Amino acid sequence: LSAAKTARRELRHARRASSHRCSNHLVVAPLWVAYTVNLGTLLRTCDAAGACMAVPSTPHYVQSLARGDTLVRRPCIHWVECERERWVDAQRALGWRIVAVELAERSIALPSLPAAREPTVVLLGHESTGVPDELVHTADACVEIPMLGVGRSLNVAVAGSLVLYRLAGLA
Ligand SMILES: C[S@@+](CC[C@H](N)C(=O)[O-])C[C@H]1O[C@@H](n2cnc3c(N)ncnc32)[C@H](O)[C@@H]1O
Repeated sequence: LSAAKTARRELRHARRASSHRCSNHLVVAPLWVAYTVNLGTLLRTCDAAGACMAVPSTPHYVQSLARGDTLVRRPCIHWVECERERWVDAQRALGWRIVAVELAERSIALPSLPAAREPTVVLLGHESTGVPDELVHTADACVEIPMLGVGRSLNVAVAGSLVLYRLAGLA
């Protein structure tokens, strides 16, 4: 190995000594995300940012996560056994803060989003239809990631990763 590669490996060992279990604090919920590659990318971000992931326990999500999981150890998954909207309501009733990542009238811009001080669920929308309107309206907060170009939106895994890093206090 080159000296640079050895140094990088040593740094990695020193800085990432342990993996985490259930954070019970930050849960990303790509409840409507369709593409395997996006779920796999989000899973890696969960590992990096110390978050859990919540997804419906349907064959689509079970198979997508099995295929998209390239980690030595999978982050904590919260399987959603009931209807998605009901699960979000149940989390709210348990005291979790619901943050929808979506463009909306009342969205705050990502740079104004503080790190999560209370248990927080982060909702991410479908690749073409977004987060359902009703959940955007009832969320405790909505976050929009400013964009300078002409694209309508970011890739959902990129959007989710930026918000998770912010809520984790890592960016
Ligand atoms: C590809 S976007 C879907 C956008 C959809 N075509 C629409 O117009 O509602 C998928 C998801 O990524 C997230 N997203 C992407 N770009 C975003 C941005 N700039 N601000 C906030 N959320 C964003 C949202 O959760 C969104 O539901």
